[in-house]
Amino acid sequence: TNKTFTMIKPDAVAAGNIGGITKMIEEAGFRITAMKMTKLSSERAGQFYAVHKERPFYGELCQYMSSGHIVAMILEKENAVADFRKLIGATDPSKAEAGTIRAIYAKSIEANAIHGSDSDENAEIEGSFFFAGTEKY
Ligand code: GTP
Ligand code: MG
Repeated sequence: TNKTFTMIKPDAVAAGNIGGITKMIEEAGFRITAMKMTKLSSERAGQFYAVHKERPFYGELCQYMSSGHIVAMILEKENAVADFRKLIGATDPSKAEAGTIRAIYAKSIEANAIHGSDSDENAEIEGSFFFAGTEKY
């Protein structure tokens, strides 16, 4: 579809990079259609990243994702999921291509500034995790 879901993670919000990151997102041709600043409990962070619950870093990931405010957004663009993954770059910022959001703003493989859905199905699930039907247009 033409939608994806993203979240500016606690490290980037704490560092004052909400503006810089949303500017890059808009300049890349994405339209922000829903936006919410909030905070996750570690339980809710665990639900969001439940696919990773067997990974060794799961506990730390839940702690980190609940360490401060996040900004959740639904984005629209043609080919949104794949194009957005390209814009954010590799999970590990030391491997992220120059000019990507993670190359510019991420601090480490964990504190990597931003999330992007990895499939159309997950974009829908993750968008609905943060936004009620009446908040999605
Ligand atoms: P997301 O868009 O956040 O889903 O990132 P991704 O799809 O690029 O990576 P993945 O889904 O594999 O991992 C989810 C998140 O877990 C990453 O974005 C990191 O915040 C964290 N993470 C991934 N690998 C590691 C790791 O080896 N160590 C630690 N501490 N955290 C990791
Ligand atoms: Mg992922």
